[in-house]
Amino acid sequence: MPVSPRPRPLPAFLLPIVLLIAVAQAQPSFAPGRAWPDAAGNPVQSHSGGLLFENGVYYWYGMDYRGPRIPPGTLPHQGFAWFLNLGVTVYSSPDLLHWKPEPNQLADIAYNLGGLLQPANLLIRPKVVKNDATGKYILMAGLISPDFETVNDVVYAQADRPQGPFRLMGKLGWCGKPNAAGLWSHDWDPAASDAPERIRAFDMTLYKDDDGKAYLITAHTRVLAYELSPDYTCASRVEVMQGAEGEAPALFKDRGTYYLLSSRLTGWAPNRNTYFTSSSIHGPWAPQGPFARGPGEETTFDGQTTFVLPVHGKPHAFIFMADRFGAVSAADIPDFKAATHIWLPIEIDAAKHALTVNWRDAWDLSVFPSTARSE
Ligand code: DGJ
Repeated sequence: MPVSPRPRPLPAFLLPIVLLIAVAQAQPSFAPGRAWPDAAGNPVQSHSGGLLFENGVYYWYGMDYRGPRIPPGTLPHQGFAWFLNLGVTVYSSPDLLHWKPEPNQLADIAYNLGGLLQPANLLIRPKVVKNDATGKYILMAGLISPDFETVNDVVYAQADRPQGPFRLMGKLGWCGKPNAAGLWSHDWDPAASDAPERIRAFDMTLYKDDDGKAYLITAHTRVLAYELSPDYTCASRVEVMQGAEGEAPALFKDRGTYYLLSSRLTGWAPNRNTYFTSSSIHGPWAPQGPFARGPGEETTFDGQTTFVLPVHGKPHAFIFMADRFGAVSAADIPDFKAATHIWLPIEIDAAKHALTVNWRDAWDLSVFPSTARSE
């Protein structure tokens, strides 16, 4: 029988370091802005995304930027660096720290011209909500062509399970009417680009309220709230969110106050994100200014808001989620597949309807108390 060489004893001065590493591995924590490997050891590839909690599992949906980067000016009227559409990534996790990749969704692109999904049209800012009446999971995302006008719509897809498969249902339209805009219509009048009657994506999110009503929020200077039909498959009314503005919207509610976070309009380059509050989803919305505090606060820690996650089982506990794209300017943006994630706890002063997001190098869910705090 072969004899293995006896391991040499560890030098005493290395012992505390080894212990520290062991403790860190036993108690994993969120490390904002740093590489986040998935269960297969690859960096989590989920950008501008959102989460859903279902039956003890969190699902994280996001953009897949692993396709080739297309420099600005390669395609007609392409002002920004661009990427080929690789669909929507889905990851699952029991604890928000360890993520298992599930099969990509809407990545099965029909390369025939005339199909809704095209290789050069990006599916942006995907979000998923569950419809409790139908039991369906509804995924919505912006679909944007490199010129931002040939296609600039919201598409939706439906699934029976949170991890998919999601069936693409088409462009989101008004209930009872076909979506007025043609697929390749070139009909964009910039002056009317955010006219409420035209459902344009630019930036978007989904929000499901306590009463089961769901809203598509689109944001590009003006922020619009489209109330969805009871089955979440069409828009039934729209309101301008008076007083709010920006892009990259994220909406949540705590103790009767709605909070809307958004970025300024600098493309993918970071800026100082701010928030707005209201006692009703119908507004009016009061501007509250920046929320980031700590090193890098003037650029929201080099990040752009994407979502706010309510933590299951922890009252008033919310996680701020942002993308750190590393863009140097609005148009000249690097390879996004290396973009990292900033997740930080939101600190809420309920009496003042105010929130802050303080920078932390590392943290875990124990920062949130498990039981309800006094109001
Ligand atoms: C501008 C945003 O801020 C970007 O993150 C991205 O969502 C694009 N819009 C998509 O149009």
